Amino acid sequence: MRIGIPAETRPGETRVAATPETVKKLAARHQVVVQAGAGLSSSVTDAAFEAAGATIGSAADALGADLVLKVRAPDEHERGQMKPGAVLVGMLNPFDQDNLAALAGARLTAFALEAAPRITRAQSLDVLSSQANIAGYKAVMMAANTYQRFMPMLMTAAGTVKAARVLIMGVGVAGLQAIATAKRLGAVIEASDVRPPVKEQVESLGAKFIDVPYVTDEEREIAMGTGGYARPMPADWMRRQAELVGERAKLADIIITTALIPGRRAPVLITEAMVKAMKPGSVIVDMAVEQGGNCELSELGKTVVKHGVSIIGEPNLATLVAADASQLYARNVLDFLKLIIDKEDKLVIDREDEIVRATLMCMDGELLRKQ
Ligand code: NAI
Repeated sequence: MRIGIPAETRPGETRVAATPETVKKLAARHQVVVQAGAGLSSSVTDAAFEAAGATIGSAADALGADLVLKVRAPDEHERGQMKPGAVLVGMLNPFDQDNLAALAGARLTAFALEAAPRITRAQSLDVLSSQANIAGYKAVMMAANTYQRFMPMLMTAAGTVKAARVLIMGVGVAGLQAIATAKRLGAVIEASDVRPPVKEQVESLGAKFIDVPYVTDEEREIAMGTGGYARPMPADWMRRQAELVGERAKLADIIITTALIPGRRAPVLITEAMVKAMKPGSVIVDMAVEQGGNCELSELGKTVVKHGVSIIGEPNLATLVAADASQLYARNVLDFLKLIIDKEDKLVIDREDEIVRATLMCMDGELLRKQ
């Protein structure tokens, strides 16, 4: 089989869907063609891909393969260079119905890896986790870089410097990594989430959990979420959370927000009034900015200073740690391929397999993922 790895074309996308490590494994049994320059923004040279067994080709060569490995969904121009019946694997955004319809129209068999179920067997191919982990780390790095004070407590001859207080809103994969990273830098950390199991995870990392008690059975049930993901909480719980968080935000030096609800606008957790009440020189990193933002004042792709607070609205933070983001993503892709390539090295789409079924967006011109 011919496997293609095109260069990503979306602005700001620095990752690549394969690395020499994964190409080496694929090239042992398949013909692998990598588009010239595809790995450069992840610090992978064409020579390194060639040494791993790939041939270097044009965009048309890579996109024209039987199996195309991408990071982001192909645009119209890229789609036009793909063969009807080809298999596409990438982070295709399962909520972008127009794009999925276009992929179906191009008669591609397309797998969106973000749609994998959160079961143990899918952990090694969980792209949301591998990328959110990196993003959570980078969010702390960016905050520390913008913050005009030290993160750790320091005792110096010139006097003592207080440790930074960090507030993390939303403690999934990104939030947990943000806590761990801020902890390593010596910050004092508090965190909030809707899901009950998070409390123990937060405390095990040495941070304090902001407890917003559930007062009704409905609140308790919704807070459990579905399939590992949060659901929108009732307005009364959100109001009580905002009151508590508002008090904690006044004391915080850095706030990192990561709260998401799949397929919906991100919940607003930091209002303008809360920002106004923060100390001058504080920093907010809004990791949910692409989904509408957790902070009312964040702006997509910009760092703005409002009421004396720097608000970082950089989307897609994993792309800023391109080499490791590509390495982990490429391993996720390789693990996924084990589900659709059989022992005779042929593509087999087994729709009885839970992971295959969940990630398969379209096949034979039919759109399978309905919103
Ligand atoms: P996510 O990126 O969808 O959301 C981030 C966090 O925001 C979540 O923890 C969510 O509960 C929280 N959130 C949503 N609304 C909020 C609100 N109003 N206030 C405060 N927080 C709010 O979540 P992510 O990181 O993709 O994963 C969530 C969980 O899924 C993980 O912590 C883990 O338990 C589970 N998981 C399971 C896996 C598996 O078993 N294979 C793999 C990865 C994650």
